[in-house]
Amino acid sequence: MQPAVAPTTALVGRADELTALLGALGVGDPAVPGRAVLLAGDAGVGKTRLCTEAAARARAAGWLVVAGHCLDSGGDALPYLPFTEALGRLAAELPGLLDAVQEEHPALARVLPGRRAAGPDSRGAVFEAIAAALERAARDRPLLVVVEDVHWADASTRELLGYLLSRSPGPRAALLVTYRTDDLHRRHPLRADAAGWARLPGVTRLPLRPLPSTDVRRLVLELEPDRLPDDVVSGIVERAEGNAFYTEELVAAARRGEQVLSADLADLLLLHLDSLPDSARTLLRAMSVAGRQVSHPLLAAVAGPEGPEFDEAVRAAVDRNVLVPVGHDGYAFRHALLAEAVYDDLLPGERVRWHRRYVEVLSSGAVDRTAAELARHARAASDVPVAIAASKAAGEEALAAGGPAEAARHFENVLELLAQGGPGSAPVDEVVPLVVRASEAAVAAGLLHRGLALVEEQLASLPDDVDPRLRAELLHAVAATALLVDDGAPRLREVTDALALEPAQVPGELRAKLLAVQARATAAADEDAAAVLIAQEAAELARRLDLPAVLADATTTLARLGSYATADATEDALRLSVSDAAAAGDLLAEMRSTFNLGTVLYEAGRMEEARVVYDRGVARAVAVRRPWAAYALEVRLMSGLVRYALGQWDAALVALETEGTDAPPMPRAELEGAALLVQVGRGEQPFDRLPALQTWWERDGLLAVNCASAGIDLYGGAGRLDVAEAVHRDAVHRIAVLWGGEEFGARVRFGGLLLGQYASAAARSDAAERGDLLEKAAPLVEAAERAAERASRHGPELLAWQARVRAEHLRLRRLAGDEGVEREQLVDAWTAAVAGFERSGHVYETARSRTRLAAALRAAGRTAEAEHELVLSRRVASALGAAPLLAELAELGAPAPPAGGEQQLTPRELEVLQLLAQGRSNRDISTLLFISPKTVSVHVSNVLAKLHAAGRTEAVVIAQRRGLVTPVPADQR
Ligand SMILES: Nc1ncnc2c1ncn2[C@@H]1O[C@H](COP(=O)(O)OP(=O)(O)O)[C@@H](O)[C@H]1O
Ligand SMILES: [Mg+2]
Repeated sequence: MQPAVAPTTALVGRADELTALLGALGVGDPAVPGRAVLLAGDAGVGKTRLCTEAAARARAAGWLVVAGHCLDSGGDALPYLPFTEALGRLAAELPGLLDAVQEEHPALARVLPGRRAAGPDSRGAVFEAIAAALERAARDRPLLVVVEDVHWADASTRELLGYLLSRSPGPRAALLVTYRTDDLHRRHPLRADAAGWARLPGVTRLPLRPLPSTDVRRLVLELEPDRLPDDVVSGIVERAEGNAFYTEELVAAARRGEQVLSADLADLLLLHLDSLPDSARTLLRAMSVAGRQVSHPLLAAVAGPEGPEFDEAVRAAVDRNVLVPVGHDGYAFRHALLAEAVYDDLLPGERVRWHRRYVEVLSSGAVDRTAAELARHARAASDVPVAIAASKAAGEEALAAGGPAEAARHFENVLELLAQGGPGSAPVDEVVPLVVRASEAAVAAGLLHRGLALVEEQLASLPDDVDPRLRAELLHAVAATALLVDDGAPRLREVTDALALEPAQVPGELRAKLLAVQARATAAADEDAAAVLIAQEAAELARRLDLPAVLADATTTLARLGSYATADATEDALRLSVSDAAAAGDLLAEMRSTFNLGTVLYEAGRMEEARVVYDRGVARAVAVRRPWAAYALEVRLMSGLVRYALGQWDAALVALETEGTDAPPMPRAELEGAALLVQVGRGEQPFDRLPALQTWWERDGLLAVNCASAGIDLYGGAGRLDVAEAVHRDAVHRIAVLWGGEEFGARVRFGGLLLGQYASAAARSDAAERGDLLEKAAPLVEAAERAAERASRHGPELLAWQARVRAEHLRLRRLAGDEGVEREQLVDAWTAAVAGFERSGHVYETARSRTRLAAALRAAGRTAEAEHELVLSRRVASALGAAPLLAELAELGAPAPPAGGEQQLTPRELEVLQLLAQGRSNRDISTLLFISPKTVSVHVSNVLAKLHAAGRTEAVVIAQRRGLVTPVPADQR
């Protein structure tokens, strides 16, 4: 309450808590009985802030608000101190009031500021006097008395509070009392009091829980709008554990570039330990070496022996609320930062000694342990042999448990430990398989470039006399990994070298794998005919040796190369590859086949079927906990893009969401880049995101395609044609480098979009400017036509964009006054564009094309047909929330659509729907989304209404049919 410094940030989150608090106090309710709230929460969680907000609302509702604070005075607080303060404020607000009360209740003098007379008045008289003062103050308008931090209150104040709470301080007065739960240790006198108060009628106990991570993230951005790096933000969110004060401190430290706790914060945290006996402090030090949490058997083995002394030390720490028991045999520091502070406070020798002790205990087999735990202690204790063995095991454990990023880290730790003896000191036959393993783990975690760098470095430092088989394995790893990144040239040389080795040195399985990679690399080098032959050889060998994953790989390559006679045969082959690879447990092969199967369907304009394939792929990758693995990410990306095309934009945003996930930076950028399409389509102006994402263009072509497509419309729509052109130029340049040439398929789309911006600009320009635009248009058209001609696959989407390029060019020419363009010619061109996008299943581009067809029809005097097109376009634009298209329609005089019709779900409703699909109850959903059960039921009924579903089950069925729900990792929400 009345913080010393005004809050520097807006209130983040806490909407539900504020509503609950105001409701319980009776603010906004004219005929309230006296009420009281006990607001309980840890230090720094935001009690004062919430009180400040509630006080402001109460004042706005006409209440008088006064506050008093208890102070930490080490046990000899002045009696009634917070009330002395509160009455002082009352006197200032209502002059004369206290004098009047004092006449009837002389005992009031005992607590009045400046008058605190000592005297013989009984406690009862003082209590009555204070109650009378509050009652009288509440006569004219409702009164809120805030008493803060009563964990520090003296006995008299506590008794007074008990008195006021049990009689309720008059019909129109409310009492808001705050206290710290983390200070309420077992023997704290307030503990019993608070429990009793909470049972009184009219008294509500409101526990204030930590802020949810999304709100902490928002708070960080509020505090530091200049954006700290993503990993720093995530680190802060994790360490702060929902505590607003810690968040502020950690942000301040990060701003100063500090990673460790600031000295101030550490001191503050260590204060909790001051009142503990030495034995408990030693115990806590030992425990901090294990981290936040430790099991009883392990702690006892390390810092024991077990016995009364040990128990007493633990008990003291638990009683003081420094430790909390977890499960049935463990302890945790109450807050992770406390564990950090204690650990940081250890002396270097002490630290190593404790780590060594942990290694001894964990190696003895006496207690349960994970390899990762042992590895960590062994490294900190500089016990290299143990650390190497344990890190290897930890890597394998992490891979098995679906933690590829951790696995990669463990393997890299091993490599580092092995290298400690100097370059070349570790045996190559031990190092190479480890490097390959580390690289695979990195790829599975979505860290493709890291994976590639690992094997490339190793290849470069391989001694000449190395076992040829090891060399072949490494060559395979380099070539296979290079194929996964856009900016790596296909490593044909590497595969050819490996395959040239003696057959005896390259056994069958490796040979088959090499051939499959060679086929892909050859295809990537555009030598399709040669690639087919190699892929067939690979498939043959894989079949003979019974290697289903390799077979799936080769088959997928054959399908992509169009070597099957019919579309059906291609599709069948890919479907079989997906299931073969899945059965063989090879996620990479499975995801690659899935991606290609989806693409084949997408390119045939079979969007719904493609969506089903992509979604199934996403679900699979999630199930094995590798959502960011190579190709798994692409499949997720496509599941978003196919929804964008289908006009399911809210669902697309859900599919592309990265917030609250552990996506590595590059996958994050790819998903965000695709989401830009929806944002710009809706008229949002993410001007700051585009440059940030642009830094990734040189690594990934598809990212550049999505960003530039969105960027052309973003800047073009904002009247900045020059920037739109720069975006286009940059994208063409980067993609040409990555994909080997300027004639790539998306060039046609770029052309259609930029020409569209030119034409729209021409409508607003003078003759000279129109001439310029016409001049700039010609090379765009030419480049698009050339790219279309060169494209290896002419799916319906490419043909649609080609038609669009022609139509936009004619529109521009006509607007520029070119008499050579016939009205009917323009109508025909736009009819072709509409038909093209309809065939390709692209809802938004169909609607955009329709709008321009309508304009052409009107100009040709075909008004009725024009109106028909406008109605169709308008329906789509309003369902999508496509503001720029709606504006274009409005310019054509198309009235706003009638209310009703298809209603889109809000992002929140989609979230609720997603959880419904997982079979969650309203109560679960309320906990997961940090909203009240009542709010959940409102969302649920909205969802049912919008989907026209009779019940939850039907809603889920409809949602699944419409692709509104995507699988999301259960641990990433
Ligand atoms: N919901 C919130 N949004 C923004 N800032 C907050 C929020 N909650 C707390 N803070 C800030 O965090 C710090 C600690 O909060 P405070 O209310 O003083 O904690 P408490 O009273 O529980 O110890 C203060 O600077 C406060 O302004
Ligand atoms: Mg406070």
